[in-house]
Amino acid sequence: MKILWFAVFWLGLTLSHVEGGVYDGFKIYELATKSRSTGVNLLLSELVKNESYYDLYSDNGAAAHIMVHPEAQPEFIELLTGHTLSYKIVNHDVGLTLRRQFETNRMLRNWYPYQGRLGTERYYSQEEINQYIEQLAQEHPSRVFIKTVGKSYEGRWLKTIRITNGDGRANKNVILMDGGFHAREWISPAAVVYAIGELVNNYEAHAQLLLDYDWVILPVVNADGYEYTQLSEDTRFWRKTRQPSSVECIGTDPNRNFGFHWNETGASSDPCAETYAGPRAFSEPEAIVVRDLIHSLADRGKMYLTVHSYGNYILYPWGYIDELPDTWEDLDEVGRAGGDAIKKATNTTYQVGCSTTLLYAAAGASDDYAFNAGFPISFTMELPAGGPDFFDPPASDIDRLVKETWVGIEAMARKVIEKYPLN
Ligand SMILES: *[C@@H]1O[C@H](CO)[C@@H](O)[C@H](O)[C@H]1NC(C)=O
Ligand SMILES: *[C@@H]1O[C@H](CO)[C@@H](O)[C@H](O)[C@H]1NC(C)=O
Ligand SMILES: *[C@@H]1O[C@H](CO)[C@@H](O)[C@H](O)[C@H]1NC(C)=O
Ligand SMILES: [Zn+2]
Repeated sequence: MKILWFAVFWLGLTLSHVEGGVYDGFKIYELATKSRSTGVNLLLSELVKNESYYDLYSDNGAAAHIMVHPEAQPEFIELLTGHTLSYKIVNHDVGLTLRRQFETNRMLRNWYPYQGRLGTERYYSQEEINQYIEQLAQEHPSRVFIKTVGKSYEGRWLKTIRITNGDGRANKNVILMDGGFHAREWISPAAVVYAIGELVNNYEAHAQLLLDYDWVILPVVNADGYEYTQLSEDTRFWRKTRQPSSVECIGTDPNRNFGFHWNETGASSDPCAETYAGPRAFSEPEAIVVRDLIHSLADRGKMYLTVHSYGNYILYPWGYIDELPDTWEDLDEVGRAGGDAIKKATNTTYQVGCSTTLLYAAAGASDDYAFNAGFPISFTMELPAGGPDFFDPPASDIDRLVKETWVGIEAMARKVIEKYPLN
């Protein structure tokens, strides 16, 4: 029966693929979860184990977004009404919205081909981002340096850009930043690329940020996953890496793959799960690259900032346990500088706090790892949601979002520079 059921399921996928996409008829439900009981929480956590039918996008305690397969919807609604849980459908056909976005993005790529500059008109490929940073280094050979730091599983080059003020002084303090850990969080590499542009092209205005500090930036950590999400609307929601994790499933969550309390709370040992920690710590070449960067810079590194989406959070350690580090007040002070600056600039609210308290436990993440390795300030920044699918701010929102993010990054950097002057 099970085999037959699977056959029907796959046939369904194949057929719907011909007509449309695999997400046709999927809906996204928003559950007001403030008042929900432990029983309902358990129910939700049971449901999301059924990953082909339920995908819990986000659950911040106040509201949860869950994407539901067309076949599971009658049952789902019955469950919700059974528990008198109020809900709202926030996307009535995920496939349709994805297809529209995909078409728009394709058009924008044609309208705005890469010409040596990356603006905010559209999203870019990892290769374009590499090209762009190489070009910046060629144009500013005394200030900007590229280093190839590794290769993704599928063989894409991972490159960092080091931005300096060109005074040639060695051993400055360092701010380490990365983006694109999770493939579908496209606004992350876009925000990181914008920050690069500000620091390189607008460096006179940011002289203070580069006086005693160098910035080292890896724009797309999970290059394979990021490229995979650009292939078609059917792959748009990919999150993990692309290294096979079992016979049936592909990918490990690179942000659960770090060797600090690896495979503990908030990480899955199921190779098919979205938060799969991997067969062992640092099984993913992309996580190894970030690990090695962290260690190579730990003695000078003052802030590690990893940019994700979504949820409007500036999160600090610990992420593996519901406990604050001794120096949490420093983390909080810098995080608040970012949150307050954004609030003042655009009225967007960010919540600042410990990962585990604000969100959920996530052991094996890069922010805990960097903090433990010696970075006194370490943040995961969750940028705002956008578009009908939340992970998909339309291209027309890129400009606003990346500029807003830069306001926060700049404010945090200023605070870090003030707190940790060069010895
Ligand atoms: C997953 O959900 C679908 C739809 O409700 C259901 O038919 C199927 O039996 C579930 N599978 C598992 C393994 O629970
Ligand atoms: C990861 O943790 C789970 C749950 O504690 C455990 O069953 C599994 O064996 C662990 N995996 C490894 C490779 O240690
Ligand atoms: C700022 O946002 C808050 C909600 O976060 C809203 O109540 C307020 O009206 C907004 N103010 C302006 C000036 O937009
Ligand atoms: Zn993420």
